[in-house]
Amino acid sequence: MIQSNTITKELDVFAIRKQFPALNRQVKGQPLVYFDNAATTQKPQVVIDALVDYYTNYNANVHRGIHTLAEEATAAFEASRDAAQRFINASSREEIIFTRGTTEGINLVAYSWGRKNINAGDEIIITEMEHHSNIVPWQMLCEEKGAVLKVIPQQDGELLLDEYKKLLSSKTKLVSVVHVSNALGTVNPVSAIIQLAHQAGALVMVDGAQSTVHLDIDVQAMDCDFFAFSSHKVYGPTGIGVLYGKKHLLEAMPPFQGGGEMIKEVTLEKTTFNDLPYKFEAGTPNIGDAVVLKAALDFVTRIGKEKVRNHEIELLAYATEQLVQLPGVRIIGTAATKVSVVSFVIDKIHPQDIGILLDNRGIAVRTGHHCAQPLMHCFGIPGTIRASFAMYNTKEEVDQLIVGLQKAIKMLL
Ligand code: ALA
Repeated sequence: MIQSNTITKELDVFAIRKQFPALNRQVKGQPLVYFDNAATTQKPQVVIDALVDYYTNYNANVHRGIHTLAEEATAAFEASRDAAQRFINASSREEIIFTRGTTEGINLVAYSWGRKNINAGDEIIITEMEHHSNIVPWQMLCEEKGAVLKVIPQQDGELLLDEYKKLLSSKTKLVSVVHVSNALGTVNPVSAIIQLAHQAGALVMVDGAQSTVHLDIDVQAMDCDFFAFSSHKVYGPTGIGVLYGKKHLLEAMPPFQGGGEMIKEVTLEKTTFNDLPYKFEAGTPNIGDAVVLKAALDFVTRIGKEKVRNHEIELLAYATEQLVQLPGVRIIGTAATKVSVVSFVIDKIHPQDIGILLDNRGIAVRTGHHCAQPLMHCFGIPGTIRASFAMYNTKEEVDQLIVGLQKAIKMLL
């Protein structure tokens, strides 16, 4: 039941909830409380409708046909690229490459930029806070090239910038850093990190998987060299994402995959490659989901990121305040600046047991290492319970989480 305090000063959460059909369902006989938004957000009706509209009315391959459906599909596909450009304020549409998601964006840079530019003895810097997708591609590259991976340490969920400064040197070729930690919610000081890296002559890749939905992203102001995000964490469909790269860097990079669309001319002896962004988009792309990305980005823009952020931060503060009063609860990651993610452990109780008991009450949280095993290792824990809030969550739902936790603790201890 949604009550009056769900309408915050600015955001009408009741009206927003009506736009998300999944929120009407029941789980285990209870109304769904969806607190796993850092894993993926639920989809508004406008996004669902856009996908149905595409497949109902103008499904066709892009950039290939001259018939009406092909032209409509191509126009919608390219309009979505423009929407993504606006959403992160890239300076040109050629800097927007469609990918499967953040992971593919990072792998593209590691494969294409990395294999051309990284040599034996070079250094790449990441942080202890990375998702596996911003660790493994660099480990693979370093192993192949004889390069060295260095790691910025963190304490209580904050990166130690003095340690970072000590790691930077003329050997540093790339710094790849997560903008917002998926496991802790920390907002990292990427502008300072980028400035220091550039002073040392290194490029910077920013993993924007968790930040793009919460923060205003301006890749030009940030001055990052590469930025990747996933549609499905911004209320859009899975299987589509964006890699941004500065144009001169993308132009100098070899293609990622070979195939149709990424070529200008092919003979059996030699191939010349297409212009940006198509050079990096081999094969038939995920047209339907790319088209729908625009509907999701427009939806977020219409509602207003700042309003949503204020609401989410209110939920974070409310939840954190109550969680710390529960017996044995310890918050993991207490950075000064966080998005609406709260990770915690409970003394003598396995996170998974809590996850199962909460699910029995219709409450969805994520438990485990959150694909950030090295970070969990730093805290000396196998995993956490993570609640992550979105625009449609309410204080009443947080109350339900707290009641669910109280009951679970009583049962398990
Ligand atoms: N990276 C996603 C998460 O944090 C899946 O849950």
